[in-house]
Amino acid sequence: MCGIFAYFGPNDKAAEIVLKGLKKLEYRGYDSWGIAAKQENGDIVVEKHVGKISEVINLNEKLEKPSHVAFGHSRWATHGGVTEYNAHPHTTENGEVVVVHNGIFENYLELKGELISQGHQFRSETDTEVFAHLIEDEMEEGFEAAFIRATKKVEGRYAVLAMSKDENKIIAARRGSPLIVGKGQDGAYFIASDVPAFLEYTKDVMYLDDNQMVILDKDGARFFNLPDGKQIEKRIISIDWEEEMADKCGYPHFMIKEIMEQKETISRAINLDSELLSEVAEKIRGAFGTYIVGCGTAGKVAMVGEYLFAEIAKKHVNVKFGSEFGSAKSFLKDRSLVIAISQSGETADTLEAIEIAKSKGATIVSIVNVETSTMARMSDIVLPLKAGPEKAVASTKATTSQIAILTLLAYAVADDLNTGRKTLIEAEGKINDMLNPRYEQHIEAASDRIKDCSDIMVIGRGSNYPIALEAAIKLQEVSYIHAEGFAGGELKHGPIALISEGTPCIVISSNDEYQKEILSNAMEVKSRGALIIGVGPEKSEIYDYWIKVPDALNASPILNIIPIQILAYKLAVARQNNPDMPRNLAKSVTVK
Ligand code: AGP
Repeated sequence: MCGIFAYFGPNDKAAEIVLKGLKKLEYRGYDSWGIAAKQENGDIVVEKHVGKISEVINLNEKLEKPSHVAFGHSRWATHGGVTEYNAHPHTTENGEVVVVHNGIFENYLELKGELISQGHQFRSETDTEVFAHLIEDEMEEGFEAAFIRATKKVEGRYAVLAMSKDENKIIAARRGSPLIVGKGQDGAYFIASDVPAFLEYTKDVMYLDDNQMVILDKDGARFFNLPDGKQIEKRIISIDWEEEMADKCGYPHFMIKEIMEQKETISRAINLDSELLSEVAEKIRGAFGTYIVGCGTAGKVAMVGEYLFAEIAKKHVNVKFGSEFGSAKSFLKDRSLVIAISQSGETADTLEAIEIAKSKGATIVSIVNVETSTMARMSDIVLPLKAGPEKAVASTKATTSQIAILTLLAYAVADDLNTGRKTLIEAEGKINDMLNPRYEQHIEAASDRIKDCSDIMVIGRGSNYPIALEAAIKLQEVSYIHAEGFAGGELKHGPIALISEGTPCIVISSNDEYQKEILSNAMEVKSRGALIIGVGPEKSEIYDYWIKVPDALNASPILNIIPIQILAYKLAVARQNNPDMPRNLAKSVTVK
């Protein structure tokens, strides 16, 4: 949610470096963008526009002048419409202080009122602009002191960076939104919302934790605790991601590249260390309540987990969306266990759930892709997906890796990890067979049939019910067609009224105890005019179109979602939507 990139170093093309870095962060927000560069005479030049930064070829000529200090922002609007004024960076009236920000300053209205009454003039409708004015107000003891004072006044979750005309430095602080410092060659430093943005320059990173501040200046990168301003040491961590992992590698979009990568990512998830799995299994067995928590797709994965634990381990687990975790508060004990699921490890609602659980003394296990994320660092045990950077907004490869790890965990709780691995290894071979050009073409033909429809229904039973919900999210996100997932048995209690002649209904099935019933549900909607697209191992005469998915026993949910990911992608392309950057969405949701 909003991408931030900063450069401080010997290269005098700071603005261009920032432009390049921001393009790699565009998946975090793409309403508008802006860059501020401090020039050799001390002036800070700002350029900002509505639109996508990926479409920018040249910067304004003023930004082409030599500069060693610059930062920029790619916006996902929260406060204030998508306008040039509301785009970041934001400056004070005289351009002395310039800021970029990700997150929300919750008390900004109150602060803005006070600042206006003191004579400050605001140009934007954003919450961010208050931070620049707050710094300006406190400048008598210097920029650093003013920045710290400003952080004491704002409430909420944020990552914020500031520059001042008076001093050659960038100051940044974090409370709840990610910021990573990269240490480059010859005294160059980078700050970014996500590591892939500066992978081409360095793999040596230092993570800013909540309530910490970093200053980049001629003395390098210095870190401090907030609010006391006490200096701290930071460990340099070497990242094992390769730069090309974060590129499209010849695919037209990240989404299809990441779908295809599932041939390899599943095997990385399956190879998760047995001891680690057994340790978590032991904790689940001994826990006073296990809660699986996630948001959006990760929330649907958590629901799949509930079915897997019931079926494989005969174990009840509770499932909560991050934003609804508060209702579990009264039941959490120090023996409770929370399993947080997340690709980014930065989702604010899931982080808040973890904070609640930690305050009750619960143990936290996270199943995350970004191993150095806030969530991973807050967890007692991390089960890493090892799926490599996922850049398309719609989660695909992370989703299947998360389900694979939950499947392994369920088998570990049942003390039968070998069967779990065997089941998943066989499933992996089947995924390899599925992901071929002919399969894609077959799904593209289904997409051609339904690309102009206004609604799509998706139904499933058992573990295919949460897969139907996830399928609907994928279709909504990138095709913008109204899609809804239902439990097959629930149709007759209301949703069946939505069916009219030709409404596509995707029916997800497996070779399981629910197969007959889901086909009966398919028949119910077909009799009312629905066009039935069957997704599963067995063909049925009820289907108007069949997308075959090999039978994979308890790993079936993993395979069943893959054709829907491809269908969603094909629909997006057919409807001329950008599948990597769907409207109104951002990859990582760092606001509540
Ligand atoms: C997935 O396609 C969505 N973009 C979204 O629902 C996502 O899964 C959710 O925001 C959680 O993100 P996380 O996995 O990074 O925590």
